[in-house]
Amino acid sequence: MTTKPRGRVLLAISGYDPHAWQAAFEGKRDAVLETANPNDPTINYALVWRQDGSRLKSYPNLRAIFSVGAGVDHLLADPTLPDVPIVRVVDHTLTQPMVEYIVWRVLDHLRQGLLYRQQQKDRLWYEPAQPQAGEVTVGIMGLGELGTAAAQALLALNFNVNGWSRRPKDVAGVTTFHGQSELGSFLASTDILVVLLPLTPDTKGIIDTQLLSGLRRDNPLGGAVLINAGRGGLQKDADILQALDASTLKEATLDVFETEPLPAQSPMWSHPKVFVTPHAAATSDPARLVPPMIEQMDAFERGEPLRNLVDRKAGY
Ligand code: NDP
Ligand code: OXD
Repeated sequence: MTTKPRGRVLLAISGYDPHAWQAAFEGKRDAVLETANPNDPTINYALVWRQDGSRLKSYPNLRAIFSVGAGVDHLLADPTLPDVPIVRVVDHTLTQPMVEYIVWRVLDHLRQGLLYRQQQKDRLWYEPAQPQAGEVTVGIMGLGELGTAAAQALLALNFNVNGWSRRPKDVAGVTTFHGQSELGSFLASTDILVVLLPLTPDTKGIIDTQLLSGLRRDNPLGGAVLINAGRGGLQKDADILQALDASTLKEATLDVFETEPLPAQSPMWSHPKVFVTPHAAATSDPARLVPPMIEQMDAFERGEPLRNLVDRKAGY
């Protein structure tokens, strides 16, 4: 009996070390960074992160694309993307760090971390009013894999939690809202806004002056707070800066930016009310994520369906 050769994997990864991803395939499946033949018929899968444009379209036997991250805006922006299934990352090793990040940033804003860091620089001994979690409502835009897990962790800390999604959703303990028609009510009862939306044509630029001015400012924190760990394209930087300067917004944590790395001249770097992290909320780890990808490829070749597929029409 002859065994069918297992499909080879093309690694089209920029922004991560592709060799680390290649190493995770070693001994299990042939994974290559380049092929001598741009129409290589032995390539059945592509692992992709911010690949350069039209690289994938030439492979005649490509059967599925695996995004190295949870978000797939980097893929769907390519109009020449082959019409094969796209699998995205849904894995507790990505969810857990995101939950930690959101809890950390929510607690830091609740407990006046930005103020205390400035006070320490100024050698100032002053204790402001300290509201407790139960007096504050965190509103999560994007109640998917990551948003729902973050909501559960925040509920366990006694925060009130609102959630906003595209379709109606039921999450125990969370007050849910959906669609454009309920966005205003969601914002009006939110003190700390956490954004975990995907970047799609519908969500692009959604964090703007109008949205920020809809948040509840008259609250025990002394103002509304924004935390964006979704995508930079969701936010309009100029509107955020203006809202901070006008005190429509008290503080912001931004993990993602339209241009990454954030350019040195960006005013975000030095703004006293902004906390910047370098798209580090949850990082894809090849040693952890490649084994389930290989399992999916093996199952697919046995005729089983792929999991965690992207809905191209919805854009996520
Ligand atoms: P999911 O697809 O599981 O969830 C997306 C959520 O957004 C869903 O609740 C969906 O609504 C909602 N949504 C999408 N479009 C709209 C819309 N137009 N209006 C209202 N709600 C909408 O994604 P994940 O939770 O896995 O990931 C979310 C995003 O987080 C990723 O796309 C990525 O951009 C970002 N991310 C950032 C990381 C970082 O390090 N900063 C790491 C990992 C991910 P519905 O439930 O109705 O479908
Ligand atoms: C992702 C990311 O989408 O890392 O997973 O941003």
